[in-house]
Amino acid sequence: MITKPTNSLYEVAVVGLGYVGIPLAVGFAEAGCRTLGFDLDQERIDVLQDGRSPITTVSSERIARAMGRNRLDFTTDRNLLSKSESIIICVPTPLRRHLDPDLGFIIRAGEEIAPSLRPGMLVSLESSTYPGTTRVDLKKVLEKGSGLKAGVDFALAFSPEREDPGNEKSVFKEMPKVIGGITPACRERAVELYSRAVRQVVPVSSCDTAEAVKLTENIFRFINIALVNELKRIYTPMGIDIWEVIDAAKTKPFGFMPFYPGAGVGGHCIPIDPYYLTWKAREYNLDTKFIELAGQINRGMPYYVVNRLMEAMNSEGKSIQGSRILVVGVAYKTGIPDDRESPSYEIMDLLREKGGIVDYHDPFVPEITEHGGGKAWAGHQSIPWSPESLSLYDAAVVCTPHHGINYGQLAELIPLIIDSCNIVPKDRIARVIPA
Ligand SMILES: NC(=O)c1ccc[n+]([C@@H]2O[C@H](COP(=O)([O-])OP(=O)(O)OC[C@H]3O[C@@H](n4cnc5c(N)ncnc54)[C@H](O)[C@@H]3O)[C@@H](O)[C@H]2O)c1
Repeated sequence: MITKPTNSLYEVAVVGLGYVGIPLAVGFAEAGCRTLGFDLDQERIDVLQDGRSPITTVSSERIARAMGRNRLDFTTDRNLLSKSESIIICVPTPLRRHLDPDLGFIIRAGEEIAPSLRPGMLVSLESSTYPGTTRVDLKKVLEKGSGLKAGVDFALAFSPEREDPGNEKSVFKEMPKVIGGITPACRERAVELYSRAVRQVVPVSSCDTAEAVKLTENIFRFINIALVNELKRIYTPMGIDIWEVIDAAKTKPFGFMPFYPGAGVGGHCIPIDPYYLTWKAREYNLDTKFIELAGQINRGMPYYVVNRLMEAMNSEGKSIQGSRILVVGVAYKTGIPDDRESPSYEIMDLLREKGGIVDYHDPFVPEITEHGGGKAWAGHQSIPWSPESLSLYDAAVVCTPHHGINYGQLAELIPLIIDSCNIVPKDRIARVIPA
């Protein structure tokens, strides 16, 4: 039994206010908990303190309302963390260049938190990572910096985030929360905390198991997307429409779950998390063959899309070299501005390498930043959507199926369209090639 500290100003502090941390902090505040949001990024904190949301998936109104009710504060002052009963960590877990996990953000967050740890506090990690991170890596850094013992003086847990950006049905309160602790008592502390804000908690036997649950969910998605991407490449030359196949197959009431092909996979989770397991498995002399294969297929999709364009242009005696090509959609999924790891950028790189004059349109990404598109595309702006501007292009490649884009107009004004989302009408002037 780890007794909670008394005289805490906050019930929970959220460290790392990004796509995951902001909805979490707002979710706790809306559940009536006094919540503190902490981030190192002063600009981000300034925006939040102003009651404005830096992400589209949580409205400014919700943030301002929670702040107005005195339930939500934002800070860059790490000393304030000591005033909270519990601390939840939601910092990035990227890959290094050679697909190795980069735990640097978690370690730095642990180092920041450690001096503020008081006996009785709970620390819960939510960043997606390989089994053992909480029990070994985070525990070590917290114990070293605080002089306290995890599982004895303070509670330590892991609870994966299941945020689904852009999905309005995905509400924090309704999303079952998987929870593991480094001891049963730690888990109980975390169960008690999360039960204040979510309807269903799913306790599991350890932090390692909870970490594995998150990886399993994302590996499942990664592999199934690769499967339909491969099927698309097989069925297309057979004259079979993969989307028609999936729509019919999903009428089977058991044993089939629809996944949809695309131009590749993007975002901060699906293309990254599986490799956290690959890396960990090597420590046990084990291969992750499914993951490697799915990775090869998914990473090959941008090349496939560009090849489809090349073949289509060749058949008309044209080439990418010197042609004006519009990429439609650089966000990695529908209806959100997140363009991290987006396959659209790989496609744009390939088109430019082949001498194409490349522009993009994305209503959610008015200007590409280095964070999303890297140095090569930073500063490029989405072209205005108008008959005059669209008429300038020789071809378009549709990579993300955003709603609200007039794909019919696209197909009236641009003669050749590579459609990796099955969204462009085929009965207009354009030749529409599925890819
Ligand atoms: N984005 C998603 O849809 C999603 C879904 C489920 C899980 N996850 C996981 O959640 C974690 C966070 O992802 P995200 O998309 O929210 O990242 P993000 O890049 O949107 O946000 C991370 C935030 O953490 C801050 N930060 C970094 N280091 C910090 C530190 N030491 N102290 C305080 N703040 C710090 C950054 O300034 C940034 O604001 C990752 O492990 C990711 O895999 C993400």
